[in-house]
Amino acid sequence: MIVARTRAELETALARLPRPLGAVPTMGALHAGHLSLARRARAENASVALTIFVNPTQFLPHEDFERYPRPLEQDLALAEEVGVDLVFAPPVEEVYPPGFATTVSVAGPSQHWEGVCRPGHFTGVATVVTRLLNLLRPERAYFGEKDYQQLQVVRRLVSDLALPVEIVGCPTVRDPDGLALSSRNVYLSPEERQRALALSRALFTAAERVAAGERDARALEALMHQHVSAAGLEVDYLAVVDPVSLEPVSEIRHPARALGAVRVGTVRLIDNVALVPPP
Ligand code: PAF
Repeated sequence: MIVARTRAELETALARLPRPLGAVPTMGALHAGHLSLARRARAENASVALTIFVNPTQFLPHEDFERYPRPLEQDLALAEEVGVDLVFAPPVEEVYPPGFATTVSVAGPSQHWEGVCRPGHFTGVATVVTRLLNLLRPERAYFGEKDYQQLQVVRRLVSDLALPVEIVGCPTVRDPDGLALSSRNVYLSPEERQRALALSRALFTAAERVAAGERDARALEALMHQHVSAAGLEVDYLAVVDPVSLEPVSEIRHPARALGAVRVGTVRLIDNVALVPPP
């Protein structure tokens, strides 16, 4: 496995890799969710490149950029284990060289939910994803459904800018008790982790109700609120939305998505599930 730290090293490494290339953009602190993306990329491409870059522009000033976990040696070992060919782990100035002055701003699916709670976050994501895709030029890029809104923002930007890459969305990986894997789960105390389960339980309860015939999105949102409030979680949003536009829906006649963001102590968690009405 090659580790490239600079754009020049990346170019040299890319020239040696057989195509097609699958890219897995990450911020490191790799867990089983990231590794599932890398394995899928491994199965579908001749080469796999994984990027590790804690992107400063997608963090708000009060957020956890400084304390975000950066276990690089462990990440490299895990990447090698799952058959990654190339890791691009650049310092900030390789991604944003002096004079860098461009941002990529996606409206549409960015406008609600995370876009409201974390203003500017998706511009940071869209800018770095565009930059990384242009540096790696992969045939495919793999993103987790755990960050469902991010996935739709990336799909929108790739379509709007006609970037020559296929975006592959991959299912959320969960602990056996349902908690969606996240690099931020390490911040949870055992007691907080237990209470955090109310989020996935609320979302899955909503999915069960929809499968049983419930179509009223507001009733489902109220139900989800009851679940998470009973566990003492602070709600940023719990919403039933169109799976592509991320606009709220009122009646579930077609597949929709339930999205949630809650705070458990100082830790903010997001999750989502598909809502599939009976035929
Ligand atoms: O999902 C992430 O880890 C990040 O938002 C991404 C896509 C790597 C961009 O920094």
